[in-house]
Amino acid sequence: MPALVLLGAQWGDEGKGKATDLLGGSVDYVVRYQGGNNAGHTVVVGDQKYALHLLPSGILSPGCTPVIGNGVVVDPSVLLSELSGLNERGVDTSKLLISGNAHIITPYNVTVDKVTERFLGKRKIGTTGRGIGPTYADKINRVGIRVQDLYDESILTQKVEAALDAKNQLLTKLYNRRAIAVDQVVEELLGYAGKLAPYVTDTVLVLNQALEENKVVLFEGGQGTLLDIDHGTYPFVTSSNPTAGGACTGSGVGPTKISRVIGILKAYTTRVGSGPFPTELLDEDGEALRRIGGERGVTTGRDRRCGWFDAVIARYATRVNGLTDFFLTKLDVLTGWEQIPVCVAYEIDGKRVEELPYSQSDFHHAKPVYETLPGWSEDITKAKSFSDLPKNAQAYVKALEEMSGAPISAIGVGPGRDETIEINSFL
Ligand code: GDP
Ligand code: IMO
Ligand code: MG
Repeated sequence: MPALVLLGAQWGDEGKGKATDLLGGSVDYVVRYQGGNNAGHTVVVGDQKYALHLLPSGILSPGCTPVIGNGVVVDPSVLLSELSGLNERGVDTSKLLISGNAHIITPYNVTVDKVTERFLGKRKIGTTGRGIGPTYADKINRVGIRVQDLYDESILTQKVEAALDAKNQLLTKLYNRRAIAVDQVVEELLGYAGKLAPYVTDTVLVLNQALEENKVVLFEGGQGTLLDIDHGTYPFVTSSNPTAGGACTGSGVGPTKISRVIGILKAYTTRVGSGPFPTELLDEDGEALRRIGGERGVTTGRDRRCGWFDAVIARYATRVNGLTDFFLTKLDVLTGWEQIPVCVAYEIDGKRVEELPYSQSDFHHAKPVYETLPGWSEDITKAKSFSDLPKNAQAYVKALEEMSGAPISAIGVGPGRDETIEINSFL
């Protein structure tokens, strides 16, 4: 049982942190392979609540080695403060490994993220403002700064110069901002070098050797399938590949090593930021889902947009990720609705469409076609097995499974580690 991928099947915030933490006790490595501190993963352990942004959720399991892979973008100041926050709460973070090839979110990347959004005005993406997009843009433009650059001052200076050359023109001439001084950036970055040094290594080698020794490696996605730069609702997406293929490129582990791909799927749908969302509810049901589900962003504190479950999206996630299983989360939030609508298809320009349209214009016009399932009112948070669930909750899960195209192997009935019904073991 070597490598598993665990990723978001919708627009993020599906409960990946909880699911990863649940498995963290049984795996040897948990690897973040993309994204950065735009992620907000909440993990509840006993009476303790942790909000992780950059660190893999495996950091909370003592036997597990957390890894920040080459595909991640790292803001060193955020990383160091996340580490010290956990240390203060008694969490041992000494096993952390960081890829020397991961790219660094520099202060100018954060500035560019914010000014770009401001200039987009009404057309803004609604980014987290953490510098994610501009850092990946620098990576693809081959003017990025990597973690390993912190250990060669001359190379670091040359690279910061190259990156700032064009950016300062843009900042001063287009955006009316002050130019950023190379020396200042270099000095700040060098200040992190010593503190990060104990963690920096060749994570590609470490992970592949671990797999050769039959160790279990879990890849934890940030964001979600519909936020993927290639497969999501472009341009209203993040700038990396949360989908399963990203686990390979973002870690240096080949696809033949991956045996299971688990999609984390919320029992309803949420989205943060701009972009199309066919089942969005702008009425009191949406408000109730937000209130009962606690749907407020962990990273930015923004209210999440809420809507009913969308099976078209779930089927799409199964397809583009090659999902082997789903972990259905937050079923408990739906307790109390007499009837629960589920989107089974879209109506686009008067035609019924079963699969996610590739055309953005069609998707923007998609109207949900609902089937209504009977709800339940019994408290399900103590359920330990599928048969403990009320009949209507069982039928809801079975209907979602049927529509979504992969077996539901676990069900979340509360935020805690033990508030989970395991149907098929993941390991
Ligand atoms: P992530 O970004 O995918 O890790 O998800 P977030 O942590 O941003 O949002 C999920 C929220 O739902 C967190 O507050 C979790 O503690 C909570 N959560 C996860 N699973 C469940 C569940 O099954 N039931 C309930 N009620 N809350 C859950
Ligand atoms: P987790 O891992 C939900 C959204 C932002 C914005 C878009 C681009 O907690 O599920 P970015 O800052 O990445 O350039 O913003 O992506 N976004 C998320 N939405 N959950 C996340 O992470 C997100 N990370 C980014 O709101 O719409
Ligand atoms: Mg989140």
